[in-house]
Amino acid sequence: MHVGVAKEIKQQEYRVALTPAGARELVQRGHEVLVEQGAGIGSAFADEAYERTGATVVSVDDVWSRSELLLKVKEPIAAEYSLLREGLTLFTYLHSAADEPLTRALVESGITAIAYETVETDRRTLPLLAPMSEIAGRLAPQAGAYHLEKPQGGRGLLLGGVAGVAPGRVVVVGGGIVGYNAAVIALGLGAQVTILERSVDRMRHLEEILSGRVSLLMSSSLQIEESLKEADLVIGAVLIPGALAPKLVTRDMLREMKKGSVLVDVAIDQGGCAETSRPTTHDEPVYTVEGVIHYCVANMPGAVPITSTRALTNVTLPYVEAIADYGSIEAVQRDPALARGVNVVGGRVTYEAVAEAHGLDYTPLDDALVAGVA
Ligand SMILES: NC(=O)c1ccc[n+]([C@@H]2O[C@H](COP(=O)([O-])OP(=O)(O)OC[C@H]3O[C@@H](n4cnc5c(N)ncnc54)[C@H](O)[C@@H]3O)[C@@H](O)[C@H]2O)c1
Repeated sequence: MHVGVAKEIKQQEYRVALTPAGARELVQRGHEVLVEQGAGIGSAFADEAYERTGATVVSVDDVWSRSELLLKVKEPIAAEYSLLREGLTLFTYLHSAADEPLTRALVESGITAIAYETVETDRRTLPLLAPMSEIAGRLAPQAGAYHLEKPQGGRGLLLGGVAGVAPGRVVVVGGGIVGYNAAVIALGLGAQVTILERSVDRMRHLEEILSGRVSLLMSSSLQIEESLKEADLVIGAVLIPGALAPKLVTRDMLREMKKGSVLVDVAIDQGGCAETSRPTTHDEPVYTVEGVIHYCVANMPGAVPITSTRALTNVTLPYVEAIADYGSIEAVQRDPALARGVNVVGGRVTYEAVAEAHGLDYTPLDDALVAGVA
């Protein structure tokens, strides 16, 4: 199969969807790997590093037109919509429940779109979201601590405190992968950490692995309101897979928060879990509402591409190999986890939460495949 690797053109996105190590694996399996010129530069991989693996470096037009399977990191942006086409399988982060123009562009193009973030195992884990969640979670307290500094407009508080001065309070809403990793780093910085979770099972697990070093509280509207009043840094880390994030933090709650406190809404790629959140970029990562600094960068791992690119290829490669070896239809028929990743096929939305988010018709994947629209 012709497997393409497109260069990311989203602002401040330096990751690439395949490392030279991954390219070599595909070449050794007999596939032709087409890498867009300069695609790896931001992650410190020169074109020659790919060429040495047997991959071919090509132009942007060639990578989109010659590939049968195209690998990307982030969703196509408007400038790329005209390149989407029937016969192409796109494998990337899509977050289409939060992006109606993109969903419509995917539907109208006839492309097969498989979203990294909705590939889901039978045990309900999200293997392709996990490493980026680990990274975003670990970055969140770092970003929050920086913006709490006075010159950045923050309260002017050191999260860890010092001997004789109390540490800052970090409230993490959602104790999944982002939440756990954020808590670990916040603890490492010396902060006092509370995690609000909805799942009792998950809380039991967190209690075991964090051995009493964090406060674990059942998440409810009232509890969020009360915890926020005390917080110096709030980290939004909830997820309802494939759906828009629930708006758990209201403007009224923000009014009750300390001035100059910081909200890092990691869930922004699913629309954000605060009423007042809107996506920002690494160029202008923050804005202030009701005296609370909002950090809402939708591609946080893009800030550390050397780590992120490797972590991403580690988990995507087995799926890429399956699609390349069997073709997208047979690959999704063989693997229910990959099948759950299919968001759009032949003009139909095959992921229910995405269809619901935009009021579009939902077609179960099997029906879409049987209809021969793929
Ligand atoms: N901004 C970025 O760069 C970036 C990077 C990676 C992940 N993310 C996003 O971060 C979010 C979290 O991802 P994750 O991998 O940790 O997901 P996860 O599924 O591991 O964890 C989500 C947790 O939220 C909990 N939850 C759901 N509803 C809740 C509620 N009302 N109150 C409290 N907890 C609730 C769930 O029980 C679960 O434990 C997702 O939206 C993901 O897309 C963003």
